[in-house]
Amino acid sequence: MAMKKKPAHAAPAARPPRPSKTKPATGVAPGYLHGYSSDEQDRLYKQARFLEKSVYEHIDFSQQHQVLEVGCGVGAQTEILLERFPQLFIHGLDASEAQVKRARNHLASHLSSNRLKLDVADALHLPFEEDAFDGAFVCWFLEHVQEPIEILREIRRVMKPSGTIYCNEVLNSSFYVHPYSPATLQYWFAFNDHQWNLKGDPFVGAKLANYLMAAGFQNITTKNLIHHYDNRAPKQRAQFIEYWINLLLSGAAGLIEAGKVTQEIVDEMEQELERLKDDPDAVFFYSWIQAKAQAF
Ligand SMILES: C[S@@+](CC[C@H](N)C(=O)[O-])C[C@H]1O[C@@H](n2cnc3c(N)ncnc32)[C@H](O)[C@@H]1O
Repeated sequence: MAMKKKPAHAAPAARPPRPSKTKPATGVAPGYLHGYSSDEQDRLYKQARFLEKSVYEHIDFSQQHQVLEVGCGVGAQTEILLERFPQLFIHGLDASEAQVKRARNHLASHLSSNRLKLDVADALHLPFEEDAFDGAFVCWFLEHVQEPIEILREIRRVMKPSGTIYCNEVLNSSFYVHPYSPATLQYWFAFNDHQWNLKGDPFVGAKLANYLMAAGFQNITTKNLIHHYDNRAPKQRAQFIEYWINLLLSGAAGLIEAGKVTQEIVDEMEQELERLKDDPDAVFFYSWIQAKAQAF
């Protein structure tokens, strides 16, 4: 077996409430455009359940025992992992105290059952010895960091040889809607541009294999997970567009504050997408990337 190299640290009436339009995005993780409001924390739980089928269809931690989840946020994915893989012990980390506090409340029963630990930590400096985990999981996380390769290298440092990592990340250039929706596209460009300027990466999904290789992982595979809704599935199409509106609005306060969009553009974008939900010819397309790799 190859020796593991140890790096030197390197329906409108029934619609759920929308995020506040005025609260500024705040937080400890630089580049985190969604912010840490309780609305946003709630959205993460809904998002995880809404996307659960596609995120977890190909994830298999049935042979793992100690999994590290980095950027665990409010524990929305942690909860699903604990449910799906009853043998797992999970150590979840997030840079934000507010997220970890919410996760601790939400997952109190799991914490007391000794299957879970949650801590505040920066992913660049993981508070673990080498070979501590046989699995690792990140979801919608690397898009928010400045140094993805260094973080992946640090995750590899604390993984056992042959440990499995799954990375689930966005590829925002894949977004397409029909009919043509100019305010939505303007908003989307501003959303991604803002994230890029905050030193995040809204296109990181396409680069995952390169980054995993650079960080020293092997046996890397990637899957394109596609959400393509048209007249074949109008109900799902409407549900996904509703989810998407909430995702877009999660960045609205920060975008307005940064002068990237006006409230008018936000309102027009929302109206366009509301119309799309009921348009009998609408098309919605979005793809993200799931990478799997092994530590060596
Ligand atoms: C979009 S949330 C995703 C949370 C969770 N993975 C999920 O899918 O619900 C991204 C999280 O990454 C955290 N984060 C950003 N930079 C970080 C860093 N350098 N170290 C640890 N966590 C970080 C943020 O605080 C935020 O909670």
